[in-house]
Amino acid sequence: MFLVVANWKLNKSLNEVKAWVSEYNNLLNSYKFKKITPVICPAFPYLYYLKEVIKGAKTGAQDISLFEKGQYTGEVSAVQIKDYCDYVIIGHSERKKYFGESRETVRAKIKICLKEGLIPIVCIENLEDINFSLKEVLVVYEPSTAISKGLGIGNPEDPNIVRGISHSIKTIEPNAKVLYGGSVSEENIESFVKQGNMNGILVGNESLNAKSFFSICKKCDILI
Ligand code: PGA
Repeated sequence: MFLVVANWKLNKSLNEVKAWVSEYNNLLNSYKFKKITPVICPAFPYLYYLKEVIKGAKTGAQDISLFEKGQYTGEVSAVQIKDYCDYVIIGHSERKKYFGESRETVRAKIKICLKEGLIPIVCIENLEDINFSLKEVLVVYEPSTAISKGLGIGNPEDPNIVRGISHSIKTIEPNAKVLYGGSVSEENIESFVKQGNMNGILVGNESLNAKSFFSICKKCDILI
């Protein structure tokens, strides 16, 4: 299965989430995905709602706490979200940049996800970031230089480099599932999907608009 993951980051109010879902669910009447699975990753407060109303898609969280429960103000644990999602993005470069997450933190969070039956979508910037088993996770090659900086699309990685990294990861673990993320758009999606060596794509900015995200999903479904 090819995953098309929407990472909404710190965006959207409840009304905006409702509008997005309504537009997305309507678009599903025009085309049904056969080969891909969309995974929508909103901010924590919307997971429950999204799980209830979204059609033809899975849900994911953008992070989890290192802790299970207790005196950890502001944290959200894997146990608290596992009824509302199947996936969790772990170790996004923005977590590393703004919240000081280390490779060790990433490894610990992967362990928690697996214990709670959640599938980790682990972001890496290079092969040195891989200090975990590739057997039970999805791994996203997402160099921070390729991520959109504000609104609009940034500088996506060269698809040939993506192919090379994917090949290297699959040499380490032949069954590894490799995704690419960073400035993916309707215009450039084909160059990443055509690699034939990819298991999915992670979309930030372009997933905030239901129509653009749907169109990226549809292109993937047709191209793979
Ligand atoms: P972008 O974000 O598609 O806006 O570059 C991707 C990500 O950071 O997950």
